Amino acid sequence: MNIILIGAPGAGKGTQARLLEEKYGMIQLSTGDMLRGAIKNQEPLGLEAKVLMDAGKLVPDALMVGMIKARIAKQDCAKGFILDGFPRTVPQAEALDSMLAEQSKNLNAVVELKVDENALIERVSGRHTCAACGAGYHDSFKPTQKAGVCDSCGGGEFVRRADDNAETMKTRLQAFNDQTAPILPYYKAKGLLQTVDGMAAMADVTASIEAALRV
Ligand code: AP5
Repeated sequence: MNIILIGAPGAGKGTQARLLEEKYGMIQLSTGDMLRGAIKNQEPLGLEAKVLMDAGKLVPDALMVGMIKARIAKQDCAKGFILDGFPRTVPQAEALDSMLAEQSKNLNAVVELKVDENALIERVSGRHTCAACGAGYHDSFKPTQKAGVCDSCGGGEFVRRADDNAETMKTRLQAFNDQTAPILPYYKAKGLLQTVDGMAAMADVTASIEAALRV
């Protein structure tokens, strides 16, 4: 099954994509994680993207389309993928249609996670990840079981994203409303769009997504 998760920054796309990946074996394709990887490795694409990401702006369509086109052609995507953070503009959605057709693949569903704006700010403000293994946590909603110790690997160092601050969040929300929200009617017209209440507890959101996908 090939699906897209759409939602504003902090809506829970990454959280849900990782849970679905673990349960069903589909591959999570997070363009945000790919870009952060390119920055860490000091790749030219990463350096170009960093300035825009730190400002909360979108990276140009051509870069993102090239990145996803190469990624979904890889063998591990044959068992299904979850797009998390792509497409983010109508031109990206159109390019995705073309590349899927070229690779004889199709989309099964597009799931929108709907979350109130105030909750989004609270979610990104408390988000942190383990520096060693990348496991994700939240100060209030998903703390580590033992304070300061990663549940997954026992690491004791945690990092917060440079763009997870109130000022940058304003720009990210504006980018979502102006550039990403217009893809919702695009997928509704194709009969693929399902909307899920992303305000619920994490496990309940997963159950709603599963119900929407009928898995
Ligand atoms: P990206 O990394 O994709 O960031 P984003 O879309 O802003 O989304 P986030 O990762 O912030 O949030 P999420 O929805 O995954 O939430 P999460 O599950 O972590 O993109 C970053 C940047 O890269 C962009 O700004 C842009 O510059 C660039 N970029 C990427 N893709 C691009 C593209 N296609 N085109 C152009 N530019 C692109 O959850 C957030 C927190 O809330 C966590 O702490 C979690 O524990 C908690 N949480 C999750 N669910 C719940 C729940 N149900 N209840 C309570 N807490 C919850």
